[in-house]
Amino acid sequence: MSWEKKEFLYEGKAKKVWSTERDGFYVIEYKDDLTAFNAQKKATMEGKGQLNNEISAHLLAYLASRNIETHFVERIDERKQAVKAVSIIPLEVVVRNIATGSLCKRLGIKEGLEFPRPLLELYLKNDALDDPLVTEDHALLFGWASEEDLKIIRAISFKVNELLKELFRKRSIVLVDFKLEFGRTGEGRLVLADEISPDTCRFWDSSTGNRLDKDRFRKDLGDVLGAYREIWRRLSAKEE
Ligand code: TMP
Ligand code: ASP
Repeated sequence: MSWEKKEFLYEGKAKKVWSTERDGFYVIEYKDDLTAFNAQKKATMEGKGQLNNEISAHLLAYLASRNIETHFVERIDERKQAVKAVSIIPLEVVVRNIATGSLCKRLGIKEGLEFPRPLLELYLKNDALDDPLVTEDHALLFGWASEEDLKIIRAISFKVNELLKELFRKRSIVLVDFKLEFGRTGEGRLVLADEISPDTCRFWDSSTGNRLDKDRFRKDLGDVLGAYREIWRRLSAKEE
């Protein structure tokens, strides 16, 4: 299928979005840019966009094969994928299995604590406010999501966690936490949107504990691209 870009719509920190000749579909291009701490820290790493495009396409297609509806249509080339046009719900949905990152900083929870059940958090997508943590009641009161939306968001997020935890476990990777975004299709259905990649997840090697995600960039651990390549190598390897 050919996907002609039509109108440039939006440039984010890691992706660009175009409309297409086909109504109801967008083209997303993955950039080589990396940012952290609300873009206070920035870098460009050649090949990062291609890796995230491949990893995200693979994971979204995998979830679709397990009956999770997503915006993903197909990977077009090294950098681009076609997606259903959705309007993004202004919430970042974080699911955590192990304590690290902002949770430890905010609440003084011990790094590495394994939870008896996954924790779901909502953050308002607002760079000017630094994406603050919000409650479901904020989301309802200010109209960012309805009761029904929140029910669907919780159910899909926990299902995605179970599916991805198992997928990565088989590849000797611990899925520590991740961020999801949801969008509404033209027909009004809520579907999984955005990307799932080492930019938006934390992956720890099961045996060494090595960080295989954007924490290598956030914390200056070195060999960021090597970690992304390793995630793609393990994901794309044939299952034994
Ligand atoms: P946090 O511990 O910094 O809140 O991050 C939780 C998860 O969300 C982690 O897997 C990284 C991901 N994340 C994003 O994808 N985008 C963001 O802007 C932030 C802050 C975190
Ligand atoms: N994505 C955010 C940024 O661009 C924060 C992060 O992932 O750490 O700055």
